[in-house]
Amino acid sequence: MTVHIGAEPGSIAETVLMPGDPLRAKWAAETFLDDPVCVNQVRGMLGFTGTWKGNRVTIHGSGMGMPSLSIYANELIRDFGAKTLVRIGSCGAMQDHVKLRDVIIAMTASSYSTPSASFFRDLSYAPCADWSLLRAAAAAAEAKGSTTHVGGIYSADVFYDERPDLDEQMTRHGVLAVEMEAAELYTVAARLGARALAVLTVSDHLRTHEALPSSDRERSFGEMVEIALEAAFS
Ligand code: ADE
Repeated sequence: MTVHIGAEPGSIAETVLMPGDPLRAKWAAETFLDDPVCVNQVRGMLGFTGTWKGNRVTIHGSGMGMPSLSIYANELIRDFGAKTLVRIGSCGAMQDHVKLRDVIIAMTASSYSTPSASFFRDLSYAPCADWSLLRAAAAAAEAKGSTTHVGGIYSADVFYDERPDLDEQMTRHGVLAVEMEAAELYTVAARLGARALAVLTVSDHLRTHEALPSSDRERSFGEMVEIALEAAFS
């Protein structure tokens, strides 16, 4: 047990899927895993371990934002031996050719800061995905027929950003989408010797101001769970 994860030793799998929302973790575990068991509920941050096609997997919430994700990623890797962590979540599109419901596989994640920023002093470290996971996720998404984009995303510190020029610069530089966790996941995983990837679906569009209705979010979320599982065990 750790400060934030009340799981028994050995009850977390080496492969962990991390949605932001703990209730999504519950839904995904009950929908996709065989014999899911709740292994954590400290502070309402739910984690479940079960099997998928005979492979042991944990689905554990990360909470919103990099400071929250950082706590869980650190404890999952350091204390519970997680070796593969795949974030599954939503993002806001920053390019005209990216549409609602498209799948984004994040090759890199830019940020202003992460909880790890002080490790690098003045260096602008480039958090990047694990190549084997990235390649497998892209293949799985294509096989499903999902419209998929592989490239750079931006991990923001705030959801309600009042700097319109920032979004414009991200768009100019080809950033596909914004979310709030991947840069720290990639950085912590690199530091602690684990593999990491973020598979996202577009839930809103910063340029057109469209947003997915909540009924569509569940279907898109299910697609991401399947892509993440196929990538992790390919
Ligand atoms: N996650 C989903 N949409 C987002 C947005 N517009 N900004 C930050 N994180 C997001």
